Amino acid sequence: MTNNEIQALLEEMTFQEKIGQLIQLPGNFYDLNGEITGPMNELDITEEIIHNAGSTLGFTGASNVVEVQKRHLKNSRLKIPLLFMADVVHGCETIFPIPLAMGCAFNPEAAYVSADVAATEAYVSGCHVTFAPMVDLVRDPRWGRVIESNGEDPYLNKLYASAQVEGFQKDLKEFSVASCVKHFAAYGAPEGGREYNTVDISKVSLYNEYLPAYKAAIDAGVKLVMTSFNVLDFVPASANSWLMRNVLRDEFGFDGVLISDWGAVEEVINHGVAADKKEAALKCLVAGVDIEMSTSCYVNNLEALVNENKVDSKLIDEAVLRILTLKNDLGLFEDPFRGCTTALEKEFTMCEDHLEKAYQVASESMVLLKNDQVLPLKNDAKVCYIGPQLIETKLLGAWSWKGRFEDVVTIKDGILKHQPEALFYENMNIEYCSEEQMVEALEHARGQDYVVLALGEPMSQGGEAASRSSISLYDWQIKFVELAKARNFKVIVTLNNSRPLDLTPIIDHCDAILECWYLGTRSGDVIADALFGKINPSGKLAMTFPRNLGQVPIYYNCLNTGRPYYGEAGYFSRYLDVDNSPLYAFGYGLTYSNFKIKNILLDRQVMTEDQVVKIVVDVENMSNVDGKEVIQVYLRDLSADVSRPLKELKRFKKEVIEAHTTKRFEFELSVEDFKYYNHNLEYKADLGMFMIYVGNSSDNCQEFTLELK
Ligand code: GLC
Repeated sequence: MTNNEIQALLEEMTFQEKIGQLIQLPGNFYDLNGEITGPMNELDITEEIIHNAGSTLGFTGASNVVEVQKRHLKNSRLKIPLLFMADVVHGCETIFPIPLAMGCAFNPEAAYVSADVAATEAYVSGCHVTFAPMVDLVRDPRWGRVIESNGEDPYLNKLYASAQVEGFQKDLKEFSVASCVKHFAAYGAPEGGREYNTVDISKVSLYNEYLPAYKAAIDAGVKLVMTSFNVLDFVPASANSWLMRNVLRDEFGFDGVLISDWGAVEEVINHGVAADKKEAALKCLVAGVDIEMSTSCYVNNLEALVNENKVDSKLIDEAVLRILTLKNDLGLFEDPFRGCTTALEKEFTMCEDHLEKAYQVASESMVLLKNDQVLPLKNDAKVCYIGPQLIETKLLGAWSWKGRFEDVVTIKDGILKHQPEALFYENMNIEYCSEEQMVEALEHARGQDYVVLALGEPMSQGGEAASRSSISLYDWQIKFVELAKARNFKVIVTLNNSRPLDLTPIIDHCDAILECWYLGTRSGDVIADALFGKINPSGKLAMTFPRNLGQVPIYYNCLNTGRPYYGEAGYFSRYLDVDNSPLYAFGYGLTYSNFKIKNILLDRQVMTEDQVVKIVVDVENMSNVDGKEVIQVYLRDLSADVSRPLKELKRFKKEVIEAHTTKRFEFELSVEDFKYYNHNLEYKADLGMFMIYVGNSSDNCQEFTLELK
């Protein structure tokens, strides 16, 4: 339809038909298999509203969707199609690694591939919109949803946000879905890492650290934005006109659909910023929320608010027009079924190509944290594999919705492909194991040279409403690593976890640690192939691993403070009981190769605003194992309008370096890379002295000075 035809349709709609477009009903209003991903409130809505509802969420399936769409259109006087939305975050049925793991790939192309495949499988199963990417910057591993983020760095998150929006939307051509970036804004900064807790950050931090990834998604053409549950400046995001009108619409130029998170409109009451559902509806509509997800404040109160002249009906027309425009952009008026058929669904879902891509992305997402010359294993190595994760199929991550555990390749499956006669001890409970059983397991391993201990935290410990007040391994797992080492085995630990964990208690008792996160459908193949060297790990941490919980929040791009600590006693910013450095830093990760940075050259030490500084890095692979290295470039503004981070990631490149060869990495920085939001929220660069850091981890860099004149 043309824009004029959409406008004409809007003018033909009754008031009830208009407000019907503003509600999103949970899937089980249409299909008992609907996924419930939030508290079901008593919606108390009329049959007329259900027939005029604009969208639903939480169920797909080609035949399901076709059936429901047909019924819906029959009940819709103006034949306005229903929008089907779902949480297709890191895969639809073919599940890719959790986004935090993909962030460790330091490869936005991996995120694009994940989104592209997810969109294809979502499209053929009748999904029109995905509630992804989640681009919330995270710094607190207690929060369960770090699993869903690409990590603690604004630059990496920006690149991943753009890549995912492009991978999902593909210009809304065939095999695409509209993308909904979330959660706007700064949901990833809850106090104490406690889910849904208060967010209270400065505008300087908001603009410089938390907003860039949302902005990148908007600049990439994202069609929807989802509000966050938290307050900002003590105003709930869904009712926050400054955030949604001034920043999102006016400054960022977003003209798409703004949808609330599940129940977030009604929760304005819980926040104490609305007396009742009527006031919640008023504040959120004025703030610019177009679609109310899974609560009915709008549909049950907007008529009264208009009649009482408390709401300008123009606001409702604007919201409805954005929703109709989205449906039109998706081609739903021409084809309400948008090409989904069971034949296509069968052809593309979990197809070989998708499974191979899931393997490739997962192969880049593991991080080798420690390796004292024990990995990779030889195929004839004498190993006993022990641990609850060996046969665990719940390796998909918390937002893997349609992924099926029965499709998962377990770690044991993967190992048997390398060692068909391998020795296993697998019947263990991940949360508790008696010392007797640990001794029995190690007795079972007697005579072997290595033990591989498959440990971690259960998948249920991550995701929404899954914050933990501790980031420790289970006590028995710590004890078990100690017992294994005491028996002189070479101890290799593989970890499946949703968040950075406190690994300090085990690092001196194990010879290798492979951080495997949740790698999705192909987990077992990838982990086993990494253990035996078919995959050479190349991941770098996208989120800091602390020495202990007491250091949290701890992140690489922190400020220097007025009394930085350099190791000596006295009045400095430090703890008495632990060093300020993390256990494993942002950007850190080992490999089976042996890379050496041979030289780093900057083509200038003084730069004017119309120039660029070129950085050349030559890296030699001194081993006989081809591998991938990630060279990182960081910047520090030594004298700025506001205090600036000790390091800010500005460039990175991941390149294959073949055995016994040298690869040249080249980077350029322009004045754009020196800009930031100052105390007046002006986006500017300072003239003066800067440090440039170049290396293969945020804590392993060579430093250079540069003057911007
Ligand atoms: C949940 C999540 C959000 C998700 C939505 C729909 O509460 O916060 O990320 O997209 O509900 O399932």
